[in-house]
Amino acid sequence: MYAVAGASGQLGRLVLAELVARAGAAQVVALARDPAKLEGAGVGAQVLGRVADYDKPETLAPALAGVERLLLISGNAVGARVSQHKAVIDAAVAAGVKLIAYTSILHADTSTIGLAEEHRQTEALLRASGVPFVLLRNGWYNENYTGALAPAIAHGAIIGAAGEGRIASATRADYAAAAATALIGARGGEVYELAGDTAFTMAEFAAEVSRLAGKPVAYVNMTKADYAAALEGVGLPGFLAQMLADSSFESSKDQLFDASRTLSALIGRPTTPIGDTIAAALA
Ligand SMILES: NC(=O)c1ccc[n+]([C@@H]2O[C@H](COP(=O)([O-])OP(=O)(O)OC[C@H]3O[C@@H](n4cnc5c(N)ncnc54)[C@H](OP(=O)(O)O)[C@@H]3O)[C@@H](O)[C@H]2O)c1
Repeated sequence: MYAVAGASGQLGRLVLAELVARAGAAQVVALARDPAKLEGAGVGAQVLGRVADYDKPETLAPALAGVERLLLISGNAVGARVSQHKAVIDAAVAAGVKLIAYTSILHADTSTIGLAEEHRQTEALLRASGVPFVLLRNGWYNENYTGALAPAIAHGAIIGAAGEGRIASATRADYAAAAATALIGARGGEVYELAGDTAFTMAEFAAEVSRLAGKPVAYVNMTKADYAAALEGVGLPGFLAQMLADSSFESSKDQLFDASRTLSALIGRPTTPIGDTIAAALA
């Protein structure tokens, strides 16, 4: 039995669909803190849904009963995630789970991105757990860059602090296919550095947006502090603005770049180019 923790999220839903297609719904359990959110996940009512809240350890033991292979999708409560992930890993050990796959960050062991620290600590917890594990060290999603194209096109500018850094992103669907493949086929001990086949700089990204939108759009590079202030200026909470500015600035040092093509090798097809994701967002 395969279980996906974080199944109600954007990545989790895609992984569920992949698992159902490959293993059959009877082999799949969807774990979510609010299973009502699983409705509309596109996998049909035949998938078993169970309550599993990373903040409520008492929900985790029953959720993991009978589960052999668990995908732990990292939570989104930045700052609280190490204790949350520890609760899930502890429960998996107690439940006799035979393999845990975890969605980490690209090059977690060396990454200078602030968000990497919680992933490093979670990876250490997995190593200490004694349970065979697989690290899905995901690069950035293409969709991170296409969520706010309309105002960028209206202003003719995309801002960031990424300089000339190369970004090898891929779609959530690409990473979801990799997660399902690994969950089904991994033996334990695999560390996958997952990134897009092709990379772009933010100037190249802006040029592609411009070409596809038919309007002039330029990339405007800022200091990390100015970019954080600009994000706060458009209404983002301070901590989120700082986090996004940090990730953008660190990407100027190629922290979101990887040329190994491990992701396309794992999923058996090329990753989705950023131009396709831009086109889909503009459609
Ligand atoms: N690689 C990247 O570019 C990138 C970008 C953003 C995030 N991430 C990381 O990758 C993860 C998956 O990405 P995503 O796009 O699917 O994010 P998402 O849509 O925000 O999904 C996050 C999932 O975590 C669940 N979750 C949060 N706190 C939980 C808790 N206490 N107990 C149980 N479940 C909890 C959410 O449940 P609810 O549905 O109940 O909220 C949701 O299912 C994120 O959580 C984050 O760690 C990666």
